[in-house]
Amino acid sequence: MRPTDPGRTLDVPALADAAGEAQDALRRMDPIAAAELPKYLAAHEAWPEGWAYGRVPAAVAEQIRAVHQRGGDELVGTFHRTTILTGLVATRERLVVHDRWAHALPCFDDAAARIVDALPATPDEVLTYPHDAFSKNVALATGRLWHAKAQLVEPRLGVARGRLLRSGAGTIARAAAVLARIGGHAPLYEIHTYEHLLHWFTEDGWSECYRMIALALSRDPAARGVFGTAWFFDPALAEVSPRIAYLYRFPADRGAVFLRVRNGHGVEAALSKSETRRQLFAEGKYAPQEYLMIWPRAAMVDWLRSGAA
Ligand SMILES: CC(C)(COP(=O)(O)OP(=O)(O)OC[C@H]1O[C@@H](n2cnc3c(N)ncnc32)[C@H](O)[C@@H]1OP(=O)(O)O)[C@@H](O)C(=O)NCCC(=O)NCCS
Repeated sequence: MRPTDPGRTLDVPALADAAGEAQDALRRMDPIAAAELPKYLAAHEAWPEGWAYGRVPAAVAEQIRAVHQRGGDELVGTFHRTTILTGLVATRERLVVHDRWAHALPCFDDAAARIVDALPATPDEVLTYPHDAFSKNVALATGRLWHAKAQLVEPRLGVARGRLLRSGAGTIARAAAVLARIGGHAPLYEIHTYEHLLHWFTEDGWSECYRMIALALSRDPAARGVFGTAWFFDPALAEVSPRIAYLYRFPADRGAVFLRVRNGHGVEAALSKSETRRQLFAEGKYAPQEYLMIWPRAAMVDWLRSGAA
């Protein structure tokens, strides 16, 4: 069951102090690595268009390798703690005046407070790529992932056409129709689940998430909509796990399209938290199945303008 959590408050001056102290400590530990930090942050802010948060450009990987050569895991951990703290300060300043995402400042602060609290106790070895929590935290800290209550949002990605092509004739035909209707497979916003933010994983947390995305899309005419891929978008959950049937129902009732896709590594997650689903699976009455959800921009903006209910 999800943890309950009242939400966090970010102490903004304390964050700036923590970033300054981290920079000083890094400088004392290794001045050359400290001198690399601005270039490293700039590379994160200039992540290649359309590249997912965990797809590391060669230049970034090379910088990490160089830092590791100088001081091993300990220096990489310190370097990345400093990257995250320094990035959070700069990203927050930009977010306040962001043309599409300024309304998400309270969510950013909630996520930032959690990241800052967890950083000191996070072992050096996991404070680097490809660890997913690190990849998400550094992307949040550098403004490449946005936090919208139940989900993280990655703006300006494309739907994976290769996976659609491997998903059978019915899916291919429906995908072709929906992608033609929205004007192409990119750019869209992609949503991701993040285990550290599961306290928002409720119907209210999702409806607020979609409302925040709809607001951003209403200010972003080039974006074609939002998409996500998950086992929990499976309409079969209405029978199997009625408590989370809203995950399909809510967007489906408001104009989203669902395409059955070839299963990827996400299906194990379907059984990880539910005794009922495990039991039904063992009895052959439930097989986890991933679905791609695409909610076109036009439908989302219509929903927003009609009151987002
Ligand atoms: C996605 C996820 C957060 C949904 O959690 P959830 O809203 O609690 O819904 P679940 O159906 O998974 O809940 C698990 C069990 O807790 C129960 N439960 C959840 N909230 C409850 C509540 N407030 N009161 C009582 N029981 C509750 C559910 O009924 C379910 O019981 P079951 O064992 O009989 O099926 C959770 O399944 C999860 O963490 N999965 C692994 C990670 C994952 O899937 N990531 C996404 C990859 S695409």
